[in-house]
Amino acid sequence: MNMKEYTELIEEMLQKEGWPSAPCNLYDPIVYILQQGGKRVRPHLCLLSAELCGGKALQAVKPALAFEMLHNFTLLHDDIMDKAALRRGKPTVYKKWNTNIAILSGDTLFAKAFEQMLQYEGPNKSLLLQLFVRTAIEICEGQQYDLDFETMKQVSEEAYIEMIRLKTAVMLAACLQAGALVADADMQTQNLLYQFGIKIGLAFQIQDDYLDVYADTNRFGKQLGGDIAENKKTYLSLTALQTAQGVDLEQLQYYFSKIDFDKQEKFLAVKRIYDQYQVGETAMRLVHHYYDVAMDLLRQLDISESNKQKLKQYADLLIGREF
Ligand code: IPE
Ligand code: IPE
Ligand code: MG
Ligand code: MG
Ligand code: MG
Repeated sequence: MNMKEYTELIEEMLQKEGWPSAPCNLYDPIVYILQQGGKRVRPHLCLLSAELCGGKALQAVKPALAFEMLHNFTLLHDDIMDKAALRRGKPTVYKKWNTNIAILSGDTLFAKAFEQMLQYEGPNKSLLLQLFVRTAIEICEGQQYDLDFETMKQVSEEAYIEMIRLKTAVMLAACLQAGALVADADMQTQNLLYQFGIKIGLAFQIQDDYLDVYADTNRFGKQLGGDIAENKKTYLSLTALQTAQGVDLEQLQYYFSKIDFDKQEKFLAVKRIYDQYQVGETAMRLVHHYYDVAMDLLRQLDISESNKQKLKQYADLLIGREF
């Protein structure tokens, strides 16, 4: 199958889900967020991995949907935590409805994700469930570090990488391993795919940090500067705090010391310092570094050259993303 067919399959299966109509304030937000699409990276990785390991994409559909639901659940809660007004070009659920509704529809989607996983029939079901549970917990750990870091003056690069490994990379890695489990691939293949997913996931999140400042607003679908407004530790803010000198450093520390600034004023002031110290370029270099490490892992995989190319092509697509 090709990417377009994967997407069609995912959309078709999501449509089939048939959500109850009442209580509408519980289910409408779920339908709203799932129908907005997004890139569908996680199910793509799951289906692709199953096929690359000699299995059938169709067999991996349940885990693929489970991960997409888990992802969308994290977004419903993440937008509350990050006070984000826009997602995929539309008002976020907690803005369109309210916070309680976003919490509860998120909880429901979380349970529904497990239901999808339970409906899977095929090899390694128990291992798949264990992987899924561990991943869900790790994402929460990462999200907690993300929040903890907002009020810390300095965060080491190591701690930052661990935070994004947990909040973002483990889910991409788990999707790839899940595909391998569906295809009943050996441990070595599972592990290499998982590690490949971690490196691509780190690159993906660092790029997300970059896009939060430098994306084309018409394409991005999220409000620019959300991370700056909330004093997030991103690879850009970390690098700026490490390299800025004199008044620039003082200004940066001042703007990152509280959140009740005029958003636009703060964004422009911080972005000026980012531009001056070229932290965007530094971040993109790290994106490419992790991409290169992922490519080294890809070479070690015991799958055909043409299958390696398919995975490389998808990684290229992710790294080239503009939204
Ligand atoms: C957003 O993920 C959250 C991050 C891990 C950066 P995506 O960029 O995959 O979001 P959608 O699903 O395509 O909207
Ligand atoms: C992504 O973090 C991690 C999760 C949503 C679990 P972000 O907070 O950077 O994601 P966006 O930018 O809101 O999509
Ligand atoms: Mg967040
Ligand atoms: Mg966010
Ligand atoms: Mg982000």
